[in-house]
Amino acid sequence: MTLKVTDYKQLPTTISNYSKERYISKSFMDNEWHNIWQDNWLLAGLACDVKTSGDYFLFNIGTEQVLVCHTDKGSIQAFYNVCQHRGNQLVTTQRGNATSFRCAYHAWTYDIDGNLKTVPSADRFGLDPKCEDLALRPIHTACWNGFVFINLAQQPDSLESYLGPIAGLLEPYHFEEMTLVADQTVHLECNWKAVVDNFGELYHVDFLHPQHKRMVDCSNDTVRLFNNGHTGVEVPGATVSPRYPVPDNPTDIQSSQLISLGLDPDDFKGRVLEIREAVQKQKRLVNAGLGMNYHRFSDEQLSDVWQYNLFPNAILSFTPEHCWILRPRPHPTDPQRCEFDKISLVKFADSTDPDKDILGPGKTSTLLTSPGKANGKRNRPETDVFNYDQVISGEKDMTDTINQDVALLAGVQRGMASKGFDKVFLSEDEIRVQHFHDHVDSVINHP
Ligand code: FES
Ligand SMILES: [Fe+2]
Repeated sequence: MTLKVTDYKQLPTTISNYSKERYISKSFMDNEWHNIWQDNWLLAGLACDVKTSGDYFLFNIGTEQVLVCHTDKGSIQAFYNVCQHRGNQLVTTQRGNATSFRCAYHAWTYDIDGNLKTVPSADRFGLDPKCEDLALRPIHTACWNGFVFINLAQQPDSLESYLGPIAGLLEPYHFEEMTLVADQTVHLECNWKAVVDNFGELYHVDFLHPQHKRMVDCSNDTVRLFNNGHTGVEVPGATVSPRYPVPDNPTDIQSSQLISLGLDPDDFKGRVLEIREAVQKQKRLVNAGLGMNYHRFSDEQLSDVWQYNLFPNAILSFTPEHCWILRPRPHPTDPQRCEFDKISLVKFADSTDPDKDILGPGKTSTLLTSPGKANGKRNRPETDVFNYDQVISGEKDMTDTINQDVALLAGVQRGMASKGFDKVFLSEDEIRVQHFHDHVDSVINHP
């Protein structure tokens, strides 16, 4: 395996082992609550969900519920979703648009900037409530590339310095130009870090995801390690795994990529290793017609799959045409459970008529056209919430790759909790897992 590691951070000199306690212990979980979840920028949701004044959504993290709102002042601002009278949770619907927020208990009412505006029978309080002291408690909020981040710390560093060079590296993708097409949450019976670990190495891919050998080359990946526990991996795409005999004909996955770009798979018989470059060139050719802004990207970015894990729990897997946000969130009380979100974004062509035939007779691009649009307006998909056994039974689908990961993770947790297992044992191919846990240790031990 060729492992190219760039030196955004000085690398750990050795791979160490760490105890399983971090996956099962309540005290470790409590320590994380204080030193990880309340002290880092967390990807709370999508800016497109709070586009206009009064739009809001809720973000559940551990024991807290955060209300993210587009205020009257035009900014996006998060608040603790807590009424300042006797602590009732103020907003109860997952997302929507409001002109004010009225508590269901005694009808205290706040405006969309968080100010307390109405207190029924205000004269019955011993002291006049001072509305300005009883506003919703604000939370540090920042947006980047179409994502809303929040930070529960008192005085956090800026999101920009938290992300460091990642902000620049991912800037060309312009996730804010992508459209939300699916929003899923699955209940998993594993610690949230078991999910991050799973998306922190490609060592398992040949075995758990055999279909990947028909679309990517995991043996020529580029790994990146960053300050603050972030990591990245860049995987050559539109190709096949060199660990297996190269097929004579394009694989089914390569064929559909070629067809979607108006190329004929038959032209690549005996030339399967040339497809990656052909895809890169063809995207530059069709760019003008589709308005995909491919000029922003390097040749490699046009064909390859990048995955960047933003500490602690936002895993972005993306190409110029799509992005998955994979986000495990800790259970409020049980270290052996978590919620796992998969939010799918797609970049559709800017063309006014995305279905027009721009590639010549009989060669319509199918990759980039826009489904599911009624009367020119696309409805936001509902969040689909389900249990992992519904994925295993086939009732729910998160795509083959994620289905395979989800099906495995409960077994990992059960094994870790067993008396027959003491500590994790990592290889160099799992250096991103190590880097993540090194950072967990640095904040847990030195808060
Ligand atoms: S708790 Fe909200 S008005 Fe009483
Ligand atoms: Fe996987």
